[in-house]
Amino acid sequence: MELISPILTKRLKLRLLTKHDAAALHRFRGHQTATRYLSHEPLSVEENSVRLSEQLAHAEASTAEWFHLGWAIELRATGEVIGDARAWNSSNPPLPGKIPADHAALGYILHPDHHGSGYGSEAAAALVAWLFGDRGTRTIYAGVYEPNLASRKLLETLGFTRDHHFPADQDSHGKGLPSWRYRLDRPRNMS
Ligand SMILES: CC(C)(COP(=O)(O)OP(=O)(O)OC[C@H]1O[C@@H](n2cnc3c(N)ncnc32)[C@H](O)[C@@H]1OP(=O)(O)O)[C@@H](O)C(=O)NCCC(=O)NCCS
Repeated sequence: MELISPILTKRLKLRLLTKHDAAALHRFRGHQTATRYLSHEPLSVEENSVRLSEQLAHAEASTAEWFHLGWAIELRATGEVIGDARAWNSSNPPLPGKIPADHAALGYILHPDHHGSGYGSEAAAALVAWLFGDRGTRTIYAGVYEPNLASRKLLETLGFTRDHHFPADQDSHGKGLPSWRYRLDRPRNMS
């Protein structure tokens, strides 16, 4: 696996997940409110461990072209893991993904104790800059359930625009909600 350096922002450190993050991740991946608009229900301790193992395997198999990377979002002041994020262009690296190699998808979650302080925007902005700047990504997608106003506002503030609407009956994650795919193209001055 290639070495990927942590990303530092004013208040956060984003680094690749490790096997030692299971307990921290379970605090929000097992949380009812935090997972309300995610593609999974609150995870049990066991389900969370399995999910983390799969993510680590995806990261291990990732290449510069086809990648699926999970990031821990840490508070720089305390080292506490308050959330995690994913950036990927293939669910099974190193196999080609459903989207072109120079496109990527982004996802994120924070523990509810840390919502509303701008951390979500700070983390997502850092990963957007990393994808465009370090990864050569040309277009970033994010899928959001329609009622998830916090995530939609976050994306719109970063410049994402609505790209495609999926009605509730096309939801494949069992939440039965309509959703939007948002997109952000790399700024021309970065091309
Ligand atoms: C989505 C999430 C990461 C946002 O993180 P956050 O740190 O609370 O968001 P921020 O504080 O950076 O706020 C982002 C914007 O949304 C706005 N916002 C925050 N909560 C909001 C809410 N409940 N309703 C409407 N707008 C909201 C903020 O005012 C801010 O807008 P601004 O930049 O114009 O001030 C967080 O709510 C979360 O982890 N949710 C659970 C997991 C999830 O839904 N992930 C996304 C899946 S698509």
